[in-house]
Amino acid sequence: MTPTVLETPPAFREATDALRAEGHVVGLVPTMGALHPGHLALVAEARRRGATKVAVTIFVNPLQFDRADDLERYPRTFEADLAACAEVGVDLVFAPAPGSMYPEGFQTHVEVGELSRALEGAHRPGHFQGVTTVVTKLLLACGPCVAVFGRKDYQQWRILERMARDLGIPATIVGHPIVRERDGLAMSSRNRLLPPADRERALAIAAGLRAAGEAWERGERDAATLRQHVLTPVEVAFDRVDYVFLVDPETLRESEGPVDRGLLVVAGHLGPVRLIDNLELGVDPLPVTG
Ligand code: PAJ
Repeated sequence: MTPTVLETPPAFREATDALRAEGHVVGLVPTMGALHPGHLALVAEARRRGATKVAVTIFVNPLQFDRADDLERYPRTFEADLAACAEVGVDLVFAPAPGSMYPEGFQTHVEVGELSRALEGAHRPGHFQGVTTVVTKLLLACGPCVAVFGRKDYQQWRILERMARDLGIPATIVGHPIVRERDGLAMSSRNRLLPPADRERALAIAAGLRAAGEAWERGERDAATLRQHVLTPVEVAFDRVDYVFLVDPETLRESEGPVDRGLLVVAGHLGPVRLIDNLELGVDPLPVTG
């Protein structure tokens, strides 16, 4: 069945209120569209976490783009997205026009402190403020829910978890593991912007994360050595590397010396396309590489 499409925050709230009044638990999966199996896995996760009705939001949020060309180029595939939602039994799709999210005179923003300044925050000024502002609005429009986010955007997930706790937003924030292509590349709406040669070069990230994960399994615990397993292949294959770090999975601060846990995070550029990825050592399955 085609999901019911809502186009304004009040219409969305009315629809979710009606579901909750019938005793349903609402699951929320915020996206910017161009849906792929990684997004659809979040829908299944919402159900596993108790949602009996699932809403997907599709909104390319202008506030979180720090580059106008990136916003312009962002893939928009609404009809295919709706069909994909129908296929996995999504109940509601919230697809607002920018004017209904940010009416004339809009001037309120939500900002999380230290967690949003590291890593992506340092490279994309204003990005997380745009994310936390829109997600606050989406969570308010939806009302009490189980909200699922991907650990592909690990920092985003941690920030949103912190935000919901700090503001007392009645949503359970869930983080779902990264979904990868068969050759190890983390699924992303941006992958479709990669020409075949760059798509091949992109695999250096998965290869590096796998090498670090294998070293971890052999007992390597030195932060600098683990990081180097990722940095070396990525530096060779990518046009520009924004960062490769081993950080603490909770604080996202860079780790030094011997570690008993760690999250490897990577961001780099292939031509005009920027890719990010990560691996939590000892927790995430190693990427399968070709
Ligand atoms: P978007 O990039 O469309 O991603 C929507 C959700 O899907 C995010 O929670 C993201 O982490 C998750 N996701 C994307 N690729 C994934 C993969 N390969 N495996 C697992 N999860 C994956 O993230 C955003 O949109 C926006 O910032 C948003 C939260 C919607 C706010 O505008």
